[in-house]
Amino acid sequence: MKNPFHTDTLEPDQPFCNRVAELKELTNHARNGMNVVLFAPRRYGKTSIVRRVQHQLQSEGICVIYAQFMRLVSVEDMVQRLAKAVITGLHEHESLLEKGQRWLRHFPSIQASLSFDPATGMPSVNIQLAKRQLSPLESLETILDEIGNVLRKENFQVCIALDEFQDIIDIKEPRVEALLREHIQRHRCSYFFLGSRRRVLLDIFNNKGRPFYQSAVMMELEPLPEGESTEFVMNQFALGGKLCPPEVAAKIVEGAHGYPYYLQAMSYRLFELCEDECSSELVDQAYKILVSNERYGYLALIQNLSSGQLKLLRAIAEEGQARVASTAFLQGHGLTLGGVQAARKYLSEQDYIEQDKKGLWFVVDPIFRDWLTSAF
Ligand SMILES: Nc1ncnc2c1ncn2[C@@H]1O[C@H](COP(=O)(O)OP(=O)(O)O)[C@@H](O)[C@H]1O
Ligand SMILES: [Mg+2]
Repeated sequence: MKNPFHTDTLEPDQPFCNRVAELKELTNHARNGMNVVLFAPRRYGKTSIVRRVQHQLQSEGICVIYAQFMRLVSVEDMVQRLAKAVITGLHEHESLLEKGQRWLRHFPSIQASLSFDPATGMPSVNIQLAKRQLSPLESLETILDEIGNVLRKENFQVCIALDEFQDIIDIKEPRVEALLREHIQRHRCSYFFLGSRRRVLLDIFNNKGRPFYQSAVMMELEPLPEGESTEFVMNQFALGGKLCPPEVAAKIVEGAHGYPYYLQAMSYRLFELCEDECSSELVDQAYKILVSNERYGYLALIQNLSSGQLKLLRAIAEEGQARVASTAFLQGHGLTLGGVQAARKYLSEQDYIEQDKKGLWFVVDPIFRDWLTSAF
């Protein structure tokens, strides 16, 4: 029987655990033309949920546009990604209405061509920016203008999702933020700003001195609730023709710490390990296999850390929760206050660590934390 668990971004027709209220809320905000910031740690299901919401909106005749801003490298890169997303979204909308490709004349700055995947028949858009000797910032402004014109002229609704939006900061062009804000506030549509690096993302929207200050509804994706998660695991096992007793499902849920990704990844491993019925011992095995499999990803996460940053990260992982400026912590781990302050800033901007209500720091991802304490 085919494994019923999935660890890639979920397609709208794949089984989804819970998130009923969030799906409804997001869909309503889009219908109302509101802008929303959707934030949660990595692998909490932000992209999957927005995919689902946009699928629903599309079925209602709303045009949906999705651009991934993860690891943007330059303004040009942003323009390319935006252009491709806009043309793809508009084209899909038109195909739905069987009107053809009339969009391109609305975007003189983009030379786009469509090709069709012979296997799936799905259109794929190839983008080239018209060579008009514009600077990257001028190109960005032009395409934002062109989007604004289309939104003004057309009478259908539009929802634009910008995934990992906070990565606009990494291109280190300070004028981008203000430019985006200036146009977005005039665009007649609903924007979703998604992001994992919460500290950076929230600062963009909650810092008085910044252009996007209070320009969107804030929405946090919470951990998956235990009851629904347990039920989800048991149901999926049943669909796959195997039995997962409630106490075994509960053990997986406990190990996943509310992370949808780990819930799926552990269940996936467990499903592979068990014959007809899974046991609690197999969950331990599944967990070990999972951690060993994740290590490449974790190694990539720490690859670019300085030795001071890694030292602090590991020290926090070892403590579980740490008051990092305390003498006991500093002395216990051979750290200095100055070093810790700089490292802490960077680590929290990457969303590797965060502070709880009592001011204690902890490693955001619980399995990453386990790995940090055992891998060295
Ligand atoms: N509601 C859900 N039910 C079941 N699995 C989910 C759910 N949301 C997310 N997932 C799982 O989590 C993984 C990460 O989801 P993704 O949408 O890529 O997260 P993010 O965008 O927050 O990093 C997906 O591969 C999927 O396996
Ligand atoms: Mg994502």
